[in-house]
Amino acid sequence: MPPPPSPQAPADVAQRVRALREDIARYDHAYYVLDAPLLPDADYDALYAELQRLEQDWPDLRSAESPTQRVGGSALPGFAAVRHALPMLSIRTETDTTPQGARAFDQRLRHRLGLDEDAPALQYQAELKFDGLAISLRYEQGVLVLGATRGDGETGEDVTQNVRTIRNLPLRLRGSVPPVLEVRGEVVMRRADFLRYNEQQRARGLATLVNPRNGAAGSIRQLDPRIAAQRPLAFYAYGWGEIAGWQGQPDTQHAMLDAFAAMGFAVAAQRAHGAGPEVLVDFHARILGERDRLPFDIDGVVYKVDSLELQRRLGARNREPVWALAHKYPPQERSTRLLAIDVQVGRTGKLTPVARLEPVFVGGVTVTNATLHNEDEARRKDVRIGDTVIVRRAGDVIPEIVGVVAERRPPGAVPFDLQALLHGSCPVCGSQIEREAEEVDWRCSGGLYCAAQRKQALLHYAGRLAMDIEGLGDKLVDQLVDGGLLRALPDIYALRAEQLAQLPRMAEKSAAKLVQAIRDSLHTTLARFIYALGIRHVGEATAKDLARHFGALQPLLDADLLRLEQVPDVGPVVARSIHTFFAQEHNREVLQQLLAAGVHWDEVAAPPREQPLLGCTFVLTGTLPTLGREQARARIEAAGGKVSGSVSRKTRYVVVGAEAGSKLDRARELGVELLDEEALLRLLAQGGEA
Ligand code: IVH
Repeated sequence: MPPPPSPQAPADVAQRVRALREDIARYDHAYYVLDAPLLPDADYDALYAELQRLEQDWPDLRSAESPTQRVGGSALPGFAAVRHALPMLSIRTETDTTPQGARAFDQRLRHRLGLDEDAPALQYQAELKFDGLAISLRYEQGVLVLGATRGDGETGEDVTQNVRTIRNLPLRLRGSVPPVLEVRGEVVMRRADFLRYNEQQRARGLATLVNPRNGAAGSIRQLDPRIAAQRPLAFYAYGWGEIAGWQGQPDTQHAMLDAFAAMGFAVAAQRAHGAGPEVLVDFHARILGERDRLPFDIDGVVYKVDSLELQRRLGARNREPVWALAHKYPPQERSTRLLAIDVQVGRTGKLTPVARLEPVFVGGVTVTNATLHNEDEARRKDVRIGDTVIVRRAGDVIPEIVGVVAERRPPGAVPFDLQALLHGSCPVCGSQIEREAEEVDWRCSGGLYCAAQRKQALLHYAGRLAMDIEGLGDKLVDQLVDGGLLRALPDIYALRAEQLAQLPRMAEKSAAKLVQAIRDSLHTTLARFIYALGIRHVGEATAKDLARHFGALQPLLDADLLRLEQVPDVGPVVARSIHTFFAQEHNREVLQQLLAAGVHWDEVAAPPREQPLLGCTFVLTGTLPTLGREQARARIEAAGGKVSGSVSRKTRYVVVGAEAGSKLDRARELGVELLDEEALLRLLAQGGEA
């Protein structure tokens, strides 16, 4: 039987689909190009979902220009070659980085055009020189049909699928458009997007992108468009290729870019046009000052003759247009030598390896330090002391090491090992350093004592949910620590009103009030005090559980991992964190000092929960008549017992069910006491000897 012909969508559905596509394209443009969203995300999502649904229900309405089709298709075996209708040229680069560069350019052009001294000034346009990947986009009847890389200028690669995933690029042009239009420009990854992307990768322990340019180029050259779609890219228009049938085509460079903006393209706001080379000189100076604040990387500015007629007359030489010039800025990446690796301790105890570098001028400043982020990343990049490394500094962010020049590695350089470098202890306070299984960062465990964590510890300690010292906020903590009045937590209780009143912006009355608040806070609860210590993973709820479970501070201090894990919601990670914290001699000293200063609380009312089977190890074998294996385990653990997988001399009881196996033999061999389910239940109920 032939398949049923796919039904044709009714006119009103087709109408609705058209309207949705237009609206969504308009919202995308407002959101991605103009940075001015027109409606809340949820409303947008609803319209998008409606369109997706209609297209699913009515296959005849599907179309490549639909905003739902930005991510479609599957991985390609390779890219097809595309011959450019007009070659993609490069630009001559001015090596003179002084303002002279622009003036010499003007002189050359005037000479070439046979203009004498009295002839009027030439009109120019100045633009940013984007540091990304050049792309040519072909639109036929206003619809994107092809996206191609530059390649060798004559032939590039068909990257249409990936280019479609760029959210700020129109799939259909707006307004009345020529039948054929090729718009050229640069695909970039904005710096904020690049940093966010790398941050996410780092948190997951995955490889990061080297720089935004590689990020853009690598994403566009992904054979799987779904990967490209996950990379946050943007396109900026600055030129064009083939154009056919454009009635009323503008006759200047700047008006062309304005026309592209009106069609829906992003065009950089940073442009200038006017008469004579001084416009260019000023632009060069202005953009140099703004460079760090631009949302994307640039490596210079580009000067262009504004009149298209003059551009045609001047033509190209050696694949470079005579009418354009690139004027570069100092590079944002340079190589230098890695002299040493230090480790910084952040205010939350996080350890960050920092590279000490032979001073190098990069991104407009002299750089001597660069972050390595964390141990894994330093290892992935295989950064070793003595290496020649590539340093990147772009925007107002901390310089970072992006890679190593492998062939310049000195003999004997060893892989980076943070723990070995620090001999296992915090470089600031000497406490033990630790790294949890799922985490990328090493941390100092001396939270109460470590000078690097002092401000954070004080703020947390004084917080509303902790000791609740009203008036001790971050500005005052800064003042007190920086002024040397607070060196450690217990110093809070030595503060006197006269001292505080000496501080700038501190009235006598507020000083007295603060001292009173500190005194009042001495009477607290055990839960608040535990929470106030700022133990990693111990939030307010866990602190309450710990207080309830242990009833007093000393048993908590003495608890081993096993005991800690018996507290509700405390798993191995939290237990380890608590245990390591209290194992630090310095933390304990601070604790004693706080108690000596008068911190106290009422006895916790509820007695600690019974743990009758504490220290008893059980082994389960065979099938029990009513209890499932997990149930049995949970009941035993709730009573403080432990369940192990194999029988040894340490086993206290073996619980035997039907079809018990070799564990039963082993138990008999060792003379371990045997229980059936009934006996186990009795034991649990009476909480003692069987
Ligand atoms: S115009 C007619 N304008 O610089 C000359 N190029 O070597 C064609 N670039 O690969 C280019 N910003 O990727 C032009 N505002 C700009 C540019 C720009 C960056 C890149 C382009 C090309 C290289 C030129």
